[in-house]
Amino acid sequence: MTIPKVLFVCLGNICRSPTAEAVFKARAKAAGLEVHIDSAGTSGWHVNEKPDPRSIEAGQARGYSFTGQSSRKVIRADFGNFDYILAMDADNLSELSDMCPDNHKNKLALFLDYAPKGSTREVPDPYYGGEDGFDIVLDLIERASDGLIKDILA
Ligand code: 4NP
Repeated sequence: MTIPKVLFVCLGNICRSPTAEAVFKARAKAAGLEVHIDSAGTSGWHVNEKPDPRSIEAGQARGYSFTGQSSRKVIRADFGNFDYILAMDADNLSELSDMCPDNHKNKLALFLDYAPKGSTREVPDPYYGGEDGFDIVLDLIERASDGLIKDILA
């Protein structure tokens, strides 16, 4: 099997998609799944910044590492380079869809499509909210990560 490449996308690439990168990396490793993982933002507002300290704190409390991450913007080459391009919310997905060449549109999805049915389909933006927003993000991302791992291994 060629190593699958997964790109997680949110708006700023400092809260949700870096969390997805950190969580999926740890859980894929624990499952023995070799993957190439990256994350990016549809905006360039925080380019070269490290993940938000609130995301790092909440994630580290669950044992996840954000080492080496810095924000970047989605580029056109990403659509050819990655196998899964997973958006955190419907706005992110719509932006990706506008940019994405038709022959790669099948790679686009909401990340929470891989979470068990019945839960919300979008990871809510925690940036302007309270502290518990970061734990909600982690809960949702952990569930979707396990679903995606199962899907890739199937
Ligand atoms: P993210 O969160 O998309 O999960 O990284 C945000 C980060 C920054 C902003 C919005 C959302 N912002 O408006 O600067």
